[in-house]
Amino acid sequence: MFNFDVINPGQPLSDPERVLKSAQTLLRTHHVSSQVPTIPRMRANILGPLRGIAEAPSASLDEMKGRLTKIKKTLLDLYSPFFDQCVDVQDIQKVIRRMLKDAEASKLSVIQKSSHGFKGPTLLIDVPRIKMNEENQPKIDSWHRAVVKWTNWSEIASSRLYAFFSQSFTVPQGIAIDFDTMQIVSVLQGQSQSIDEKTCEQMQQCFALIKKRFPTEDNSGTKIMVSEKIVGENFFDFATSKYEQLSQLQKERVFSVLAKMAVLDLVLGNFDRFASINWNEETSQYIFEAFEANLGNAMVKWGGDSSQDPQVFAIDNEIEVIEHEEQYHEFLQKLFTDSDVREKMAENMVQNFEYALKNHSDDLHGKNIEEKTAKLGIFADEARSLGKAVFIEGIQKAFAELPDQISKWNSSEGDSLREYLHNYSPHFEMIQKRIRGFERPQKETKAEGL
Ligand SMILES: Nc1ncnc2c1ncn2[C@@H]1O[C@H](COP(=O)(O)OP(=O)(O)OP(=O)(O)O)[C@@H](O)[C@H]1O
Ligand SMILES: [Mg+2]
Repeated sequence: MFNFDVINPGQPLSDPERVLKSAQTLLRTHHVSSQVPTIPRMRANILGPLRGIAEAPSASLDEMKGRLTKIKKTLLDLYSPFFDQCVDVQDIQKVIRRMLKDAEASKLSVIQKSSHGFKGPTLLIDVPRIKMNEENQPKIDSWHRAVVKWTNWSEIASSRLYAFFSQSFTVPQGIAIDFDTMQIVSVLQGQSQSIDEKTCEQMQQCFALIKKRFPTEDNSGTKIMVSEKIVGENFFDFATSKYEQLSQLQKERVFSVLAKMAVLDLVLGNFDRFASINWNEETSQYIFEAFEANLGNAMVKWGGDSSQDPQVFAIDNEIEVIEHEEQYHEFLQKLFTDSDVREKMAENMVQNFEYALKNHSDDLHGKNIEEKTAKLGIFADEARSLGKAVFIEGIQKAFAELPDQISKWNSSEGDSLREYLHNYSPHFEMIQKRIRGFERPQKETKAEGL
């Protein structure tokens, strides 16, 4: 059974055995899909003997084992740990039924590696759960969807930080698996569960085999984050699909959420999304400087309903160590005190959007390129004509909301988050200092009536 999805609030944390089973299912499904062709005749050649064995009338265990030799070797190898445990004919037939269900699932499964980048791998998974119906035919019972990403504790712990501070966007639920400390931790709630040595070893091996099937750069992390799969699109894809169907008001609301996310990114030190800064050697200070926005790090879920606002998600929430930390604090303080800053930041976001969308349209391939390029152009134009004013307002609102959020962080409400970051984030002290950097100016701006 595929149980990665046991990560909903209020539900108990996935137990390690179930996570292991899910990882094994994932590995088998991917392996089987590469072994069993989709062309019906070729498929029948491979699955026919399997069905024959599953439905065979009474046979002895030895006869049964003899029949297994008719199965394609690479498939047999994958299931040999299950066959090794079989003590009677019924056990063997059960394993074969498992193989047939896996073959059925693999026909429809999608396990796709995200193509953007350099980290991860990030695997986007949609695997059907198959049950046999009364006629003993395999049928889809439900879908299991998840995102599995090889990453580090910095990103995992930041997810909870974002969820704590956010008042307008969502961070997906998830679990983190740490083989070094042998534990599973719920990303947004922080409960943890230890993994026994044997399960941990099997889990580590299984995930290593999964990863091997998706070649990646060497700099991928050693921790694994399994997240809820958002039924939506990142902003690059959204721009070329449903964006234009949003009403004017909905567009404005979405832009406003993006501005609030951008403020939090700056406060916490995440430069891989919308706003970007650079070090100015001459003045020895940080300034806004145009760079390419990463519209892949925010997602949106929207059913196309004009009465329902889209839900915006922050993903890939990594916080960075910065070279001149002191000057960064000064820069952050100026965000409050310099009255031009909101305009500068909004302009920086707009330019970054334009830059990213232009580059993205240059990289488009496949079908409907002209149509998609036109839509990316509209999104870029509207980021300026409509978005910029909304960004300015959203940035202002985000600053105005910060004092209350920071008091929450400092109060007992923030206790469990601070303890969690202290335990898991390599950057707890740094985050704490950045947030504290706002304490003085925020009092001043409050007095200014912001
Ligand atoms: N929870 C999720 N639900 C649905 N899709 C997701 C989720 N997380 C990531 N994705 C998809 O995968 C893409 C990459 O995710 P992410 O930014 O976390 O990985 P990454 O390491 O930066 O990988 P890449 O460099 O390929 O973007 C996103 O732009 C989005 O399309
Ligand atoms: Mg990313």
